Amino acid sequence: MTVLSVCNHKGGTGKTTTAIHVAAALGLSGWRPLVIDLDPQGFLTRTMGVGEPDPEQSVVAFFDPDADLEQIEVREASGFDLIPSSDTLTRRMRDLNKPTDVLWVREALQRLDLAYDLVLLDTAAAVTVYSLNALVASRHVLIPVLPEYQSVVGAEQTHKTTQLVENKLNPLLETRHFLFTQVDARKRMHKTYREYIREKHGPEVLEHVIRTSTSLAKSQDGTTTIFDHDPTARGAIDYANATDELMTRIREASDGPDEEQSPPPDPAESAPELSEMLNS
Ligand SMILES: Nc1ncnc2c1ncn2[C@@H]1O[C@H](COP(=O)(O)OP(=O)(O)O)[C@@H](O)[C@H]1O
Ligand SMILES: [Mg+2]
Repeated sequence: MTVLSVCNHKGGTGKTTTAIHVAAALGLSGWRPLVIDLDPQGFLTRTMGVGEPDPEQSVVAFFDPDADLEQIEVREASGFDLIPSSDTLTRRMRDLNKPTDVLWVREALQRLDLAYDLVLLDTAAAVTVYSLNALVASRHVLIPVLPEYQSVVGAEQTHKTTQLVENKLNPLLETRHFLFTQVDARKRMHKTYREYIREKHGPEVLEHVIRTSTSLAKSQDGTTTIFDHDPTARGAIDYANATDELMTRIREASDGPDEEQSPPPDPAESAPELSEMLNS
């Protein structure tokens, strides 16, 4: 089972849209994808038409040592399964301040032993204990980046965070993939920022980009994805192509020589770096 975080420390960069549409594209290609909504604001959960769940049936259970993980109600979304977020995540965050509190998601996934090919973790814009949990549980990170100043800064900060997490907490965090979203070929600044990222992070940047697409924005109004209501729209074509490319890259990374697993470092030793990240 491959675990992939969708992460950018800035909001509005297309994380949730990307998590939904990569999962839906995979579902259409015969994969079994699971999306876990780790954003306390639960936009993905709501976008897929799931109302506020009981906390013990939501992702909140991952962070509760007494929870019965079997109680979690996996929802059926459009082409993929979903473990919903809950408002309770926000309240729960105050208690999650120990260094070991970055390990909950990884441990829950190990305990659940789910029969999915790919688990996608959607994260909030800030560096919180939840986004760190996502990175600690992941082997790959997808960084959606709108080619504009704030989002590019956020993407580069995210890249740094992933390196820190790889060094201190999760040596299995293997690959990062930048994906340009909401690309408008007519905007000169978009071209400049795309060139900048490609120059700096070349091999980690997906060739395929997601163009701006009104039907993609519209698909967020209901419970469907663009593949349901307009499979020929450019948003559908772009996400299908980007997903193919992403999965090829992930497969190549996993086939590589670095497959050997080393034991994770002791998170207690990484406490200073952790609090630095959370307070930055
Ligand atoms: N390719 C796109 N074309 C047009 N609108 C988009 C596209 N991708 C995302 N959006 C819209 O941009 C907004 C922010 O996207 P979202 O996925 O919620 O970002 P994030 O999760 O990073 O905050 C949403 O209203 C979404 O519908
Ligand atoms: Mg989001």
